[in-house]
Amino acid sequence: MEEDRGRIKREVLRDFARYIDPMKVRTLKAAGLDIVEDRREGASVWDITGRRYIDCTTGMGCFNVGRRHPRVVKALKEALDLLDTGIFLMVSRQKAQLARRLAEITPGNLTCTLFGTGGGEANDAAIKLARGFTGCKEILYAERGYHGHTGFALSAIGREAYREPFEPLMPGFRRVPFGDVEALEKAISGETAAVLLEPIQGEAGIRIPPDDYLQTVRRLCDENGALLILDEVQTGFGRTGRMFACEHWGVVPDILTVAKSLGGSLYPISATIYREDLLDFFIAHPFIHLSTFGGSDLGCVVALAVIDVIQQEGLVERARAMGERFAAGFEVLKRRYPGLLLEVRQKGLMMGLQFTNASIGPRMSYQLAQRGVLAIYSGNDPSVMRLMPPLVIGEEEVDQVLEALDEAMAQLMKEPGIGKED
Ligand SMILES: Cc1ncc(COP(=O)(O)O)c(C=O)c1O
Repeated sequence: MEEDRGRIKREVLRDFARYIDPMKVRTLKAAGLDIVEDRREGASVWDITGRRYIDCTTGMGCFNVGRRHPRVVKALKEALDLLDTGIFLMVSRQKAQLARRLAEITPGNLTCTLFGTGGGEANDAAIKLARGFTGCKEILYAERGYHGHTGFALSAIGREAYREPFEPLMPGFRRVPFGDVEALEKAISGETAAVLLEPIQGEAGIRIPPDDYLQTVRRLCDENGALLILDEVQTGFGRTGRMFACEHWGVVPDILTVAKSLGGSLYPISATIYREDLLDFFIAHPFIHLSTFGGSDLGCVVALAVIDVIQQEGLVERARAMGERFAAGFEVLKRRYPGLLLEVRQKGLMMGLQFTNASIGPRMSYQLAQRGVLAIYSGNDPSVMRLMPPLVIGEEEVDQVLEALDEAMAQLMKEPGIGKED
């Protein structure tokens, strides 16, 4: 049986490399991440060979309620006996229920929703709405930011490698340094339709802005008649220890985008949630932004179950508590490996470990995988290891991750190229 599994794994990797992408397989292999997902449950995932891993990637924030949460699975199974995606042009009970729920759980006066299937699509819709509503064209976005690979979202991506092959991208997009109020003050004007930001940058390596940053951005947007779009695709639904990260700073955007965890790892769905008065734009153009599977009836059922689980099982509070447990462990690691671990950036269970150089991320992923922990270094900065476990992670699992980190760092200290040389 064991042997069969090994053979199946080799065949899957071979076919994936041949029919999908050989470089993807090679890169994953180099980082020890060439597992073939099989069973998934809670905070764990099993390789097809039967080896268990604690999942600290969660698809960069897809699985806040854990893998295959039983209540979400049950809701989807029951819905499959009665529903399908629904006709996207029609009125749907499930869409109405979910939109109302989103209005209830989001801060301030964000009461209207446009559904989509993914984060990039949600951001595209937000940018279209901002341009359509304000009549202005300019979109300001942040260096190293990440908003997806779709048309408008790609134009707001803060990494050259993702952009260059496709240029020219959408005109009217202008980049500013993240967290820099003065730079934003110089760039913003009456021509600005929107400022698009992640409240905490995920892909960039868990970058948390200075404490007064978002509040000042909010003020600058108001003074210049620009809209504030906050992309909470990674930070939303309890990840940072608040339902939405913007609540840490008491800032309400004009448009909030969410995806990933809303689908509970079971059904793709995203939402662009906006201030009621922006509806004026859609009153003139009710069918101007459509998505056949966006906010499908099945997706809405799943999303409603996800929100119930987060609220009823206290997962926001749990993210804070488990985050504190991790933080205590990181303090020990910082003292033990000062030449390797430079800084820890963390809000709740959104955690980034800043290492000394860019070679360390992939080596760290490799070492952790050897010790049963799945974690992926930051795409836009491989010197940062991202840890984003499901919010249902238990104390024992947190301790296992910390132990694996300790052993992995001890191992890395023995290897060449460690230190502050680059
Ligand atoms: C902050 C942020 N926005 C948008 C996206 C894009 O989401 P999707 O891949 O669902 O289009 C991501 C994906 O990682 C993200 O992290």
